[in-house]
Amino acid sequence: MKITSAEFITSSTDWRKCPPTHKPEFAFIGRSNVGKSSLINMLVDRKKLAKTSSTPGKTQTINHFLVNDEWYLVDLPGYGYASASRSARFEWGKMIEDYLKNRKNLFCTFILLDARLKPQAIDLDFITWMGENHLPLAIILTKSDKIKQQELVKSKKTIENKLLEQWEEVPPLFVSSAEKKLGRDKVLDFISEAMLEGD
Ligand code: GTP
Ligand code: MG
Repeated sequence: MKITSAEFITSSTDWRKCPPTHKPEFAFIGRSNVGKSSLINMLVDRKKLAKTSSTPGKTQTINHFLVNDEWYLVDLPGYGYASASRSARFEWGKMIEDYLKNRKNLFCTFILLDARLKPQAIDLDFITWMGENHLPLAIILTKSDKIKQQELVKSKKTIENKLLEQWEEVPPLFVSSAEKKLGRDKVLDFISEAMLEGD
């Protein structure tokens, strides 16, 4: 897919206030600091479209970006932001869960996992929750530039095996690096295909 335009549309704290639902939408979620905003910028080839930061907890709202005037890319706040207060974490959960469960035009949610880490309980819990709610998902292992190829293969295998303990099939799995611009074509092709199938 060729990206011809990408623009910020709106930030929302409630799914009811998100843009109209007549265009397909793809969301990006994962632990704070895993690289969601950086990946979004890499996909649309715009360095500063989604705000990134080395301090976890940068993205706090549901952020819609319109790509090619055709589909939305959605940057979500990270989960597991340890220093957020209990009530803030609760609010986060409700805002995101309501959005994921109710958003009619949400074609797929990409769950980002740090390629360097073993799957964390919070990620596995979230994947289980998505499955229980029959919400389509794909996985992206981020920051792959930070590890050797051999370790990356190991990481992939570990996550696949972990998921196979619970699921009959492994969901689509991609590897990315915002730093080295890796994984862009595969993720964009997947989005194109999903939109074709959804027509
Ligand atoms: P929150 O919005 O706080 O939940 O974080 P986020 O998941 O959006 O992460 P963000 O994109 O802001 O990136 C967090 C940090 O990781 C930044 O310092 C990025 O520069 C760095 N980073 C993100 N992706 C990559 C990558 O592929 N490779 C490397 N080396 N660093 C990355
Ligand atoms: Mg972010």
